[in-house]
Amino acid sequence: MARPSGTGYAPADVMADLDLVLRECAGGVATLRLNRPKALNALDPDTLRALDAALDEVDADPEVRAVVITGAGDRAFCAGADIAAMAAMGGTEGHPYCRLGHEVLARVEDLRVPVIAALNGAALGGGLELALACDFVVAAERAKVGLPEITLGLIPGFGGTQRLVRRVGLAPARRLVYLGSVIGAADALSLGIVDQVVADDRLADAAGGLARDLAARAPVALRHAKRATRAAVETSLGAGLRLEMEAFAATFASDDRVEGLRAFLEKRKPTWKGR
Ligand code: CAA
Repeated sequence: MARPSGTGYAPADVMADLDLVLRECAGGVATLRLNRPKALNALDPDTLRALDAALDEVDADPEVRAVVITGAGDRAFCAGADIAAMAAMGGTEGHPYCRLGHEVLARVEDLRVPVIAALNGAALGGGLELALACDFVVAAERAKVGLPEITLGLIPGFGGTQRLVRRVGLAPARRLVYLGSVIGAADALSLGIVDQVVADDRLADAAGGLARDLAARAPVALRHAKRATRAAVETSLGAGLRLEMEAFAATFASDDRVEGLRAFLEKRKPTWKGR
């Protein structure tokens, strides 16, 4: 898997402060919790590196079948790129900071297993951009989302101008990016930014339940389903259909395909091997 490098910021394994992203793993589901509640879990370079290091662990653990990313505390999932850190940067440091953010969020998007963003509060700027790199977004009713960078004299720099347009279309994305408006969970649901809104106290159950359901699916097929559906928003129809054919053929060659079809015919639940 590609690792951040050459950005001007040290790669994750050099100096990641592991407390900045807490990890738990149970029943095939890894939960990664951004842990800077006093700064509303803002993504400074150290937190991005810690997230990258956590992704390394998840990637290396074959037991992990789904990931939930959430924030510590009850106010914010993540309030975005770190405003204090950016204020201390010189005018040429925007490029490497943006690149670091792009590389770490691309790792979230490219992870072999599905990733669910569980929005426990504000998901603004880089926080919403992190959510947009996930496969699914479940929000608590109290969550607010937006790309308010324009109010700081900036534009979204962790993928928001690209992933939000792909997700909701040009006009609604432009409205959010140009105006920097912050909207509530219900409006985010109607725009398609989030997939599900639940009562605040049900967020962990809802995101965990979805993650457990995903973790119970055939792992090889799920991996290819992720690749193939992603291709639909990134390539031409012809290229996407070719990728689907390769992906289908790969699932067809898996032990899980043999098991899945046999289990159906034998009227029993399949036992997936993940190969
Ligand atoms: N970076 C660093 N610190 C932040 C932060 C951020 N993005 N957002 C909030 N904080 C800090 C505040 O400075 C404050 O610290 P102190 O207690 O030391 O003063 C603490 O978190 C609590 O914040 P507030 O007092 O502002 O809390 P609130 O409840 O009144 O408001 C909020 C909450 C609406 C989320 C508000 O904090 C806010 O608007 N935050 C900024 C959101 C934003 O503009 N995000 C975009 C960042 S730029 C970006 O992300 C660029 C990119 O794409 C790469």
